[in-house]
Amino acid sequence: MVESMDKIVALAKARGFVYPGSDIYGGLANTWDYGNLGVELKNNVKSAWWARFIRESPYNVGMDSAIFMNPQVWVTSGHVGGFSDPLMDCKDCRERFRADQLIEDYVKKAGVDVEGSVDSWSNEEVMAYIRENQIPCPSCGKCNFTDVRQFNLMFKTFQGVTEDAKSEVYLRPETAQGIFVNFKNIQRTSRKKIPFGIGQIGKAFRNEITPRNFTFRMREFEQMELEFFCEPGTDLQWFEYWKNHAVEWLKDLGLKDEELRVRDHDKEELSFYSNATSDIEFLYPFGWGELWGIADRTDYDLKRHQEASKEDLTYFDDEKKEKYVPYVIEPSLGVDRLALALLCSAYEEETIGEGDVRNVLHFHPVIAPVKVGVLPLSKKLGEGAEAIYRALSGHFNCEYDDRGNIGRRYRRQDEIGTPYCVTYDFDSETDASVTVRDRDTMEQERVRIDELVEYFRKKIVI
Ligand code: GAP
Repeated sequence: MVESMDKIVALAKARGFVYPGSDIYGGLANTWDYGNLGVELKNNVKSAWWARFIRESPYNVGMDSAIFMNPQVWVTSGHVGGFSDPLMDCKDCRERFRADQLIEDYVKKAGVDVEGSVDSWSNEEVMAYIRENQIPCPSCGKCNFTDVRQFNLMFKTFQGVTEDAKSEVYLRPETAQGIFVNFKNIQRTSRKKIPFGIGQIGKAFRNEITPRNFTFRMREFEQMELEFFCEPGTDLQWFEYWKNHAVEWLKDLGLKDEELRVRDHDKEELSFYSNATSDIEFLYPFGWGELWGIADRTDYDLKRHQEASKEDLTYFDDEKKEKYVPYVIEPSLGVDRLALALLCSAYEEETIGEGDVRNVLHFHPVIAPVKVGVLPLSKKLGEGAEAIYRALSGHFNCEYDDRGNIGRRYRRQDEIGTPYCVTYDFDSETDASVTVRDRDTMEQERVRIDELVEYFRKKIVI
C-alpha cells in the first residue's frame, strides 16, 4: 500500500500509466491521459467487471447506449433540477469551493463531529456552519465567502449546426439513464424474465467544482453500472446479494480486507426514493473514499420515465399473472477509481537484503497490464526468445526486453507489476525450456517452451 498520492502520481507518469492531459500545451486542469500501461490496466478492469457481472452472471446482459440523449431524459431523471453541488466563492482571492467539502475537510482536520451528513444540509445551514466556525479559505486563509448557490454539474453542448436552446444537449453525467430508457427494448430482445439486470460501461461527464486527488474525482470519467430489475418486496434481499457480490469481486482482484469498508447510509442521508444505499469505500492515501455506490432505487426511475414518456414500462409476470413496475438495485462503480485503488493497493517498496529496495506493483495477474516479460539472457539469443514472444503474445499482453543486465530487467518488470518473466538462456537452445520467474516470490522454475501457454493460462485467472 502506498502512503502518499505524490508517489502514485509520479510512478504513473514515469511508467506510462497516467499523464497530465494536453501536457505539451501546458495541460488542461484536472484532465488525465492514460498511457501505454494505463490503458491496459483500465481495459483489464473493464474486462474483469464485464466477465463477472455480465458474461458469467445467469441474470445479466449488457448494452452500450449513446452519450447524448434526449434532453427530456435529464429533466425526468431529476438531473436538470437537482444534480448540483453547493458553490461558494472566496471574496478575497476569488477561488471557488464546494461548500460541503470545505466543511468535510475542516471536520476531518479538527477531529469534530457534525450532525448527519453535510450532503443533506440546506444552503443556509452550510453557510451558518462555515461562518460560526470561521472556516478559512484553503487558498488565502480568510473567512470571507459569498453566499452558497447551487451549481449544476451537467456539461451542455449543441447538437447540429444551430446554437440555440432547441439544439442544446447534455453530456451524460451517468450511464444509468441509458439503461432505464432501454428497459423495454432489452427485456423484449433478450427475453429475460425478472429478476434480471442490464449493465454497461461508458464515459460520464460532470463539471465538478473541485476535481481532486488525481483520478479520484475527474470531470470526464468512466462508469461500470448495473441496473438490476426485481419484483417489489424482493429488493432488499437483492440489495444484499449485489453488495456481497461486489465486495467478493474486489477481494478477488486483490484488494485487502483492511483497505475496504462498507458504509451504510443512515436515514437522513438516504434519497427520498431509496430503500437502502451503501458505499463500498477504499482507504486511499488521502483517507477513505467512495469506490462503489450501491442503491436500492425502488421503482422511482422507471415510474418517472413512464409518466414523462407515456410509454408502458411495466413488466408482466406471466406465472403470477401480475403487472408491476420493477424495483431496481443499482451497483455503480467508477473505472478510474477502481484502477487508482488497485494501483495504490499494489504498490510496495520492498526491502530485500541490506539497503536494497525494490519497487513492486503486486497486481493480480488478471489486472496486470503486462502479463509476461520475455527476456533473452543475451542479444545473441534473440531468435529463440522472439519466437516465444510471438507465441505468447497471441494469448497474453507481453513485453520483450533485451536491454541491460538481467537483474535490472527483472526490476523494471517488477515496477510495472508484470507477474511473470520468461528468461531464454543458452541452455534453452538445447533443452527447449526456459526459466519462469515469479514477481512476488522471486522464485524461478524451469518450464518447457511448448507448455508455456498452458502454464500461464492456469495462472492468469481469477
Ligand atoms: N448512477 C448512479 C451514480 O452515478 P454516483 O455515486 O454519482 O452514482 C457512481 O457515481 C460511481 O461513479 C462512484 O461511486 C464513483 O466510483 C464514480 N464517480 C462518480 N463521480 C466521479 C468523478 N467525478 N470522477 C471519477 N469517478 C466518479
